[in-house]
Amino acid sequence: MRLLSVNGSPRKNGNTASMLGRVCGPLASAGVEIDEVYLHGLEFRPCTSCTVCMKMKDRHCHGYKGDDCNDVIDRAIAADVILLGSPVYFGSVTGQIKAFMDRVGFVNRVNDLFLNRKIGAAVTPARRAGELLTFAELNMWFLINGMVVPGSSYWNVGHALKEGEIEKDKEAMETCDELARNLLWLLEKLR
Ligand SMILES: Cc1cc2nc3c(=O)[nH]c(=O)nc-3n(C[C@H](O)[C@H](O)[C@H](O)COP(=O)(O)O)c2cc1C
Repeated sequence: MRLLSVNGSPRKNGNTASMLGRVCGPLASAGVEIDEVYLHGLEFRPCTSCTVCMKMKDRHCHGYKGDDCNDVIDRAIAADVILLGSPVYFGSVTGQIKAFMDRVGFVNRVNDLFLNRKIGAAVTPARRAGELLTFAELNMWFLINGMVVPGSSYWNVGHALKEGEIEKDKEAMETCDELARNLLWLLEKLR
């Protein structure tokens, strides 16, 4: 089994990375392969609305020549679980994760719904507010793409400003731990 972890924060080792890592740790220990994507380190630009994907139907995006989107799509297709992480930016997701959602989601929907019945989960750190709206946006992306979304002991959000501070948010960490347990339970059922 394989999990694709997508970090939508420009801070590679920030709070999003901490929450993603907290979820991935127990899964890796249980033998799940973890594939990590750090969008900000890639060339991953926004959707151009060229709609060539609707004509080509080859599970790829044709908006830019040679950017990293199609490699990420291939990695999403190979995954059983897609774990998205985005910090809250002005009450919403980051531009990096929105580019991922628009391009990967559109290609999925105009092809053969290759994301259908994959498992989706999201984590969302914020300094103070907007985390539930952002968490809802990420979950709505899973749902419109035919994915199955497990819950946890709370919504998978946390509060922190500086890098790494999220680890002091005990409830956020416990929520990530329970999410990991629920993901493992679901994966076990699929296996
Ligand atoms: C451009 C920008 C906008 C932000 N907007 C919000 C916001 O609307 N609400 C909030 O609570 N925190 C906001 N933050 C704070 C981040 O969500 C918070 O620091 C988060 O922990 C960062 O996660 P990271 O370390 O993974 O980047 C903003 C930060 C930046 C840089």
